[in-house]
Amino acid sequence: MAAGLACLVLPLALQVYGPAYAGAAKMKVVEEPNTFGLNNPFLPQTSRLQPKRDPSPVSGPAHLFRLSGKCFSLVESTYKYEFCPFHNVTQHEQTFRWNAYSGILGIWHEWEITNNTFRGMWMRDGDSCHSRSRQSKVELTCGKSNRLAHVSEPSTCVYALTFETPLVCHPHSLLVYPALPMALQQRWDQVEQDLADELITPQGYEKLLRTLFEDAGYLKTPEESESTQQEGGAQGLVFENLESCNKAHKELSKEIKRLKSVLTEHGIPYTRPVETSSSEHLGSKTPTGRTAEQLRGNPGLLGNTL
Ligand SMILES: *[C@@H]1O[C@H](CO)[C@@H](O)[C@H](O)[C@H]1NC(C)=O
Ligand SMILES: *[C@@H]1O[C@H](CO)[C@@H](O)[C@H](O)[C@H]1NC(C)=O
Repeated sequence: MAAGLACLVLPLALQVYGPAYAGAAKMKVVEEPNTFGLNNPFLPQTSRLQPKRDPSPVSGPAHLFRLSGKCFSLVESTYKYEFCPFHNVTQHEQTFRWNAYSGILGIWHEWEITNNTFRGMWMRDGDSCHSRSRQSKVELTCGKSNRLAHVSEPSTCVYALTFETPLVCHPHSLLVYPALPMALQQRWDQVEQDLADELITPQGYEKLLRTLFEDAGYLKTPEESESTQQEGGAQGLVFENLESCNKAHKELSKEIKRLKSVLTEHGIPYTRPVETSSSEHLGSKTPTGRTAEQLRGNPGLLGNTL
């Protein structure tokens, strides 16, 4: 009789507790807070990580290119930091809360070069932080294995990462000159020669080298950096402050005045453009056609004005 009762109770118990056990099993998903935050299809699109722009192309010493596409993480107190060389730096809060914070601390932008050596990787245009974007500088140091060793925030929303790798242990591994294509090496040789011959000043030398590094893709020109800021500026923040905006406006007004006087000087009529959409404006053939016609009769003008 007792055995018979047990047989009856067991299926009953399974029936009662079954759904509860299934629910407990499903709860395990929460143990992966990152995938929960990042890949949860039920979260609105805006709460997932949204890079403001694409990373810059891979550049620098070729033996470091193999790091591209890999990621290295470090858990420090309640955060997991992830560094993906030539791509991004991200931060993921380690919590079981449903709305764990994940953020982009920078997207691969350019090298920092000092003393003709690659010193670090700048990752910029991360998630907004007050009126600016989060950015990170990753220093590469010699280590036994590839490892994100340290993360700190020396100033608000500027992060300093230390990445250890055996790839930078050779004393020449981070020199800029050997990484350059031959044509740019030859240009550098010429710059050295000009400095030795005192044809250029030390300041001129620094400027020429900077341009050379920009042409190599190691550094971004200020314009390129600005345009990424503008494209990325979800907040619509184009200028740091009113002062720089005023300064830009003044410069542009001066430039317009200069161009007008050039046109007047050469007797080329001009009018204020009628309000058109920017695409129409760009596609407009009239001004270029007319200018070309006028220029054809006066080849000297081209050299004078352009
Ligand atoms: C960061 O870089 C990695 C590696 O290239 C990539 O898989 C990941 O999608 C990037 N994350 C973001 C938010 O762009
Ligand atoms: C620059 O590098 C050279 C050799 O590459 C080194 O001798 C010199 O001390 C360095 N100077 C600075 C300021 O780091």
